[in-house]
Amino acid sequence: MFDFRRSHDCGALKKEDIGQSVTLSGWVHRRRDHGGVIFIDLRDRFGLTQLVIDPHTGEKLYAMANQLRQEWVISVKGKVIARQEGMSNPKMKTGDIEIDVNDLDILSKSKVPPFTIADENLNVNDELRLKYRYLDMRRGPILDNLILRHKTMMCVRKFMDNNQFVEVTTPLLGKSTPEGSRDYLVPSRIHPGHFYALPQSPQLFKQILMVGGLDRYFQIAPCLRDEDLRADRQPEFSQIDMEMSFATKEELFKLVEGLMHSIFKECRGLEIQTPFRHITHHDCLENYGTDKPDLRFGMSLKTIDDIAKHSTGTLFIEAIESGNTVKGFCVKGGADLSRKTLEDYVAFVNLLGVKGVAWMKRQGNELTTGVAKFFPVEQQAQLIERFDMQEGDLLLIVADEKSLTNKALDHLRRRIAKERNLIKPDHFEFLWVTEFPLFNWNAEEQRIESEHHPFTSPLFEDIHLLKTDPLKVRSLSYDLVLNGYELASGSQRIHNGDLQQTIFEQLKLTADEINQRFGFFIEALSYGTPPHLGAALGFDRIIMLLIGTDNIREVIAFPKTQKATDLMMEAPSDIPEKQLKELKLRILS
Ligand code: AMO
Repeated sequence: MFDFRRSHDCGALKKEDIGQSVTLSGWVHRRRDHGGVIFIDLRDRFGLTQLVIDPHTGEKLYAMANQLRQEWVISVKGKVIARQEGMSNPKMKTGDIEIDVNDLDILSKSKVPPFTIADENLNVNDELRLKYRYLDMRRGPILDNLILRHKTMMCVRKFMDNNQFVEVTTPLLGKSTPEGSRDYLVPSRIHPGHFYALPQSPQLFKQILMVGGLDRYFQIAPCLRDEDLRADRQPEFSQIDMEMSFATKEELFKLVEGLMHSIFKECRGLEIQTPFRHITHHDCLENYGTDKPDLRFGMSLKTIDDIAKHSTGTLFIEAIESGNTVKGFCVKGGADLSRKTLEDYVAFVNLLGVKGVAWMKRQGNELTTGVAKFFPVEQQAQLIERFDMQEGDLLLIVADEKSLTNKALDHLRRRIAKERNLIKPDHFEFLWVTEFPLFNWNAEEQRIESEHHPFTSPLFEDIHLLKTDPLKVRSLSYDLVLNGYELASGSQRIHNGDLQQTIFEQLKLTADEINQRFGFFIEALSYGTPPHLGAALGFDRIIMLLIGTDNIREVIAFPKTQKATDLMMEAPSDIPEKQLKELKLRILS
């Protein structure tokens, strides 16, 4: 039997190895026939090596080499030789050498693949890539991403271990957790009619680990949420989940900053600046219109109600009088934008629910075009000053309901930054957003709900408002934002039973509901709970940002589609009647 054990991988051999006898195994990446001599690029995870099969070496060997097709798996033995004068390929790690093959075995054949693996530039449709994920992996980038993911996991584990955190695996089969998405449920065979919920996060377990005295917990934890998917969301994803006792949020911030510093340094060789900036949730919405702003380009938002109310534009005046707002941002050098582009922006913001976007350009000491005519000289001067407008700058403004205005300006700001190439590669701007509101108003259900989860502590100085003006209460929660993505979220937890009870009352949870949903948890907290706090970082999102992709599927081995299906396994799928019976389930049509 042919001994296919490799002496080297396909990325290893160099000039210094010339003269050695070697065994290589891998996939046929490309096969070329140059006037009788057959050249094969042999591929494995580590690289490509060129094989040469000369007809003079032997008829049988040559005939075998002639049969080879792309993606067949072969093993060869031969001698490392120098490439002919002028034939070196400096782009390949093994570009100075080739293998003069003297023995070959075909280990397995391949059907013709649905797309060519050797063609890096081939634009393969996403569905095909997911259906044949293993072939997509062979093209390289996905494997590189998985390797980076592994490296990052190793770095996280080393860093957390060095800081006395203990990794604990928490159960997958449990009860609903409080993150607020829909649960994935698993029917119990032993307890018919009863269901486990898969964890949306290990939130309750990690708090109970603090009650248990573990002090510092972490886990690279699988989380499952049945929610609408987006480019940065998957139904199954991983978190770097952590919790610590007797610590302050400053300690947690320092720890997370140190962790991010190590990850970027060890996994990408990049030095990021710490400590990260801080901004309150209120100021964040005011300045960027979103709680996850991209700070890599300027164009911060400014409210101009005080100036616009002295304009002659009825649109602006009516907006302010009806409780709406007028807000905008300045595009440096944006006076070069054509009328057509500006009209495209109007259509773009219309889709986001606002009536339009108005513009003005600075020319000399005045504003011209668009809505400039509605602003008297004095107000024009105020606008120029507020937005620090220079010659040739453009001002874009929206007058509408506050949250819609923020949303439209946020999207427009990001679109313009992309279109005007304002984003440099490998530029990372981290930001802690703090003091989120504790509650928000669910207008559909006419009730207060937790912004984060019901175990989040209010800001101490706002506790007195809990009963009188709950929507004004700020919380001790924080998000970490990077380049427009929410990377992490966490909070100081409540460790005082009375305070927890008041929160439940505000959420209008009855004793029965509390007992049914979190009874075991409240019971645990009643046996002496240390003050504790924590956070969870979206692990997949970190990898996305490390490699510079905006598609989360690129960093997950076997991701789901937008419709939460696995195209390779064809999941979800029907289950046999027998299994349904065992579970005492019936499908309603
Ligand atoms: P949260 O729900 O904010 O907090 O999640 C924490 C982080 O996880 C990432 N994330 C996701 N990544 C990919 N796909 C998803 N569907 C998805 N959902 C969330 C985000 C997010 O910031 N238990 C709390 C944390 C805590 O309080 O300690 C929690 O899970 O990057």
